[in-house]
Amino acid sequence: MYMEITSNKMKKNLKNNPHRIALIIGTRPEIIKMSPIIRECVKRGLDYFIIHSNQHYSEKLDTIFFNELNLPKPKYNLEIGSGRHGEITGKMLIKIEDILLKEGPNIVLVQGDTNTVLSGGLAAKKLNIPVGHIEAGLRSNDQTMPEEINRIVVDHLATFLFCPTPLTQKNLLKENLSKSSVYITGNTVVDALFQNFKIAEKKSLILSTLEIKPLKYILTTVHRQENVDNKKKLVSIVNGLEKLSLKLRLPVILPSHPRFIKMLQQFSIKTGPDIKLIDPVGYLDFLILEKNARIIATDSGGVQEEACVLGTPCITLRENTERPETVTVGANLVAGTNVQSILKSANKILKNKRKWKNPFGKGDAAKKIIDIVTKK
Ligand code: UD1
Ligand code: UDP
Repeated sequence: MYMEITSNKMKKNLKNNPHRIALIIGTRPEIIKMSPIIRECVKRGLDYFIIHSNQHYSEKLDTIFFNELNLPKPKYNLEIGSGRHGEITGKMLIKIEDILLKEGPNIVLVQGDTNTVLSGGLAAKKLNIPVGHIEAGLRSNDQTMPEEINRIVVDHLATFLFCPTPLTQKNLLKENLSKSSVYITGNTVVDALFQNFKIAEKKSLILSTLEIKPLKYILTTVHRQENVDNKKKLVSIVNGLEKLSLKLRLPVILPSHPRFIKMLQQFSIKTGPDIKLIDPVGYLDFLILEKNARIIATDSGGVQEEACVLGTPCITLRENTERPETVTVGANLVAGTNVQSILKSANKILKNKRKWKNPFGKGDAAKKIIDIVTKK
């Protein structure tokens, strides 16, 4: 019965409006990386609506970005919050299915690799609604990461695969996905950065607020499940950062994801005075912190990309990366979480000149994606 309702609704929509687009987001990086797509929909006067799962809900991981990026309020907020993987994925699946049935979009766009992406993709596919996966084809080849599972599943159910780079396209072709569904568009992370960097330069007061000078600090973020939920790794990362700070004689500025703070407390790990833990900052402030850092040490996906685009050397506090393009161009090294390898990698990457190619596109990914979606 559901399929019938869907197809009738979809038929009616197709007749009246061939492109009714559902945009699904849920976490900080999805809000930021989907913002250029939202702008493009607004600019073209397209019929679109936003579903926000609210997987992220703390003001500093959520509303701050809607305000800063001047984004429209989502039509639906699912208020899912935090929970176990299966639990939140299931709750989102149920709610998203209801909305898609009611709204009958002709396409659903999801971005990245979160549980929100998995639920959105699955809900749409089961209703025979085409899914466009933005940032398709990334592979860490490490299926202990929840994100790797989400990416693989969504890539294999999507009708449109929007790859940021030729390498990510190659990954998909290796998995026998059809060449006709795979497009190289660049990454919308570049669009967002280009759209906001000058504004950030004008508006942000973060360096003076924190009393720091360009190139005189290390910028760090840590939030990956496999790092922060593992006491040994988390202790080693904190020790590595303290030693790095000592060696470079620079403080570590660490805008802290709530998961990182929660696990430091749970494991009773204390950080020394050279690690300045601050609340997560807004996107504009964060761009300025990234641009002016001497070096970035992170386990974030988006931060590896932005460091590369902004010309700031980066070390990745993980054993692998699904963004190897950053390593190939000389912007990033996979340091792992071991103290010695953190120091060694930092030393090595700091020898590189702060100039390399940007592998993630020219900042026109959203335009390309919306062109493709509206031509079909
Ligand atoms: C999620 C994504 C990850 C992404 C990250 C972006 C999955 C599997 N993980 O990880 O891919 O890189 O978002 O930041 O989808 N919490 C808050 N406030 C919030 C959200 C979370 O305090 O607004 C705390 C809660 O204690 C929660 C924990 O952070 O249990 C983890 O949140 P969750 O959304 O499960 O995963 P993230 O680590 O944020
Ligand atoms: N970011 C931010 N404030 C912060 C830390 C990060 O605005 O305090 C932005 C950053 O610019 C990037 C995104 O958040 O665009 C990365 O999100 P996160 O590291 O949470 O997720 P991931 O990219 O690893 O999925």
